[in-house]
Amino acid sequence: MEEKTSFLNKTINLESPNKNIVPITTSINNDGKLSIGGCSLEDLVKRYESPLYILDEITLRNSCRAYKKALEKYYPGESLPIYASKANSSIFMSNLIASEGFGLDAVSEGELLTALKGGVKNEKIVFHGNNKSNKEIEFAVQQNIKIIVDNDHDLDRLEKISNSLNHDLEIMIRFTPGIECHTHEYIRTGSFDSKFGFGIENLNNLFEVISNKKHLKLIGLHAHIGSQIFELEPHKDLGEIMINVILEAKKFGHDIKELNVGGGLGIKYTEDDDPPSIDEWVKTISLSVIEACKKNRLNLPILMCEPGRSIVSTAGVTVYKIGSFKEIPGIRTYLSVDGGMSDNPRPITYQSNYSACLVSNPLNNSSRKKYTVAGKHCESGDVLFKELELANCKTGDLICVFGTGAYNNSMSSNYNRIPRPAAVIVSNSEAEIIQRRESPHDLLKYDVLPDRFIKQS
Ligand code: LLP
Repeated sequence: MEEKTSFLNKTINLESPNKNIVPITTSINNDGKLSIGGCSLEDLVKRYESPLYILDEITLRNSCRAYKKALEKYYPGESLPIYASKANSSIFMSNLIASEGFGLDAVSEGELLTALKGGVKNEKIVFHGNNKSNKEIEFAVQQNIKIIVDNDHDLDRLEKISNSLNHDLEIMIRFTPGIECHTHEYIRTGSFDSKFGFGIENLNNLFEVISNKKHLKLIGLHAHIGSQIFELEPHKDLGEIMINVILEAKKFGHDIKELNVGGGLGIKYTEDDDPPSIDEWVKTISLSVIEACKKNRLNLPILMCEPGRSIVSTAGVTVYKIGSFKEIPGIRTYLSVDGGMSDNPRPITYQSNYSACLVSNPLNNSSRKKYTVAGKHCESGDVLFKELELANCKTGDLICVFGTGAYNNSMSSNYNRIPRPAAVIVSNSEAEIIQRRESPHDLLKYDVLPDRFIKQS
């Protein structure tokens, strides 16, 4: 039988964690049990219960450092890596990325507050969004946070605010470069069907409009072409396209100093995935920008990139406890765990695949069997793995799912009034809580029963 836990035996890439399935510090203890950051996962579940989100500090920091190092290596101009906090937003994550010298991208007042509370400096935060509220825009302006203008509505409101304050506001604009990425292919299109940003074909008109706005100073360009991308070519093209846009903007008197190329580098969720390294990705973008600048005798802009998944995904795992089994002879055996689509909506939303193993004796190859791993939610589609091969297992055993650091916690819900799991950071054989487990009582906090209904009951 094909060995499905072989990913545990692979050599770990320390420099580019997105090329591994497991966190860098993953090991198997003498007792045969899985450990991360020097902490036995079984002990962590005894202490913090399950399901449990676990983040490995070394993997997180190595990912951040790989971006910093590559930017220093390949880009002679100024640069700033910016963490896309939608991947996993918390006070802890904001604090960690700030300590690594990163900026942060936020898309709501909630993400902005979390970033500020975590210690990210306002001048290193960028504020995105295709439908920012007035309150969000005002908050960002008050906090001196740079706004990425997505559409005319943003522009109108920022013009009014800057006029009423009678001072200049620096803005960036987001545009769609006509590069369409699917995970394993990409196409260049004239226009790109996206709700985000200005169409590239409308930019000249926009540059003209902005040059007539007294207090709006266009200083930067932003584009983001997609997520979980394995190809380098689209980002190579993007660098060149963006430099051409800078040249166009120059004709209207705009001096664009900042170039933000978005995020998108993929990670290895399963053995089938082979993403480029962080080094290769940064190199590709840097060289394309440098070359285009040289060709056009342009000073190098400040280069920004916005990785999310490739910073936090591989650092994270989720540990579940196995509950019930249901065998349907000749069809499948369901194995249900104590979480599911509320803590990881990616399989039901995107049919995403993950890798997983038992926490106890993960390398045990005896009597392996295929299971369908189901969540506990009242929805037939709540399935984390259509087919996962595991050694003999029973109720109470633990399963570790890898690569869950990005877009799991941040996209989690309380469907079926299921509380969100706790999250811990592990490092040097110590675990510390970074998000307390919700309780069912917490979930009642915002419910209101109007007085007249209380009288009735
Ligand atoms: N910058 C912008 C403007 C973005 O919209 C995104 C992701 C990023 C940066 C970060 O991209 P990354 O490096 O993480 O690929 N929920 C989906 C992913 C949605 C990505 C949205 N934008 C998922 O679970 O796969």
